[in-house]
Amino acid sequence: MAKVRFEPAGYEVEVAPGTALVDVCDDHPEAEVPFSCRSASCGTCRCRVVSGMEFLSKAEDDELDVLEVFGDGPDVRLCCQMVLAKDGPVHLEVVEPE
Ligand code: FES
Repeated sequence: MAKVRFEPAGYEVEVAPGTALVDVCDDHPEAEVPFSCRSASCGTCRCRVVSGMEFLSKAEDDELDVLEVFGDGPDVRLCCQMVLAKDGPVHLEVVEPE
């Protein structure tokens, strides 16, 4: 199990490797990550990975396409597409809509 921390909610939860973060957020609404499409097309769930990128699944092409549209840097991911791939701490920060 690894700690995943969500900002700006300041909420921290233990997550087992192999778990999709969208499922974590469904089980823990205190994480306060907004979702809409849940399929890498709207960009509502964009999060900056403050630390722990190495413990997350790699971004697939459809996710990278959405992030490119928003002009995000390599530290931003779609929460609906991320899986905790390895056992290690992750710190995320929800990207506020402009
Ligand atoms: S909820 Fe739409 S891209 Fe994640």
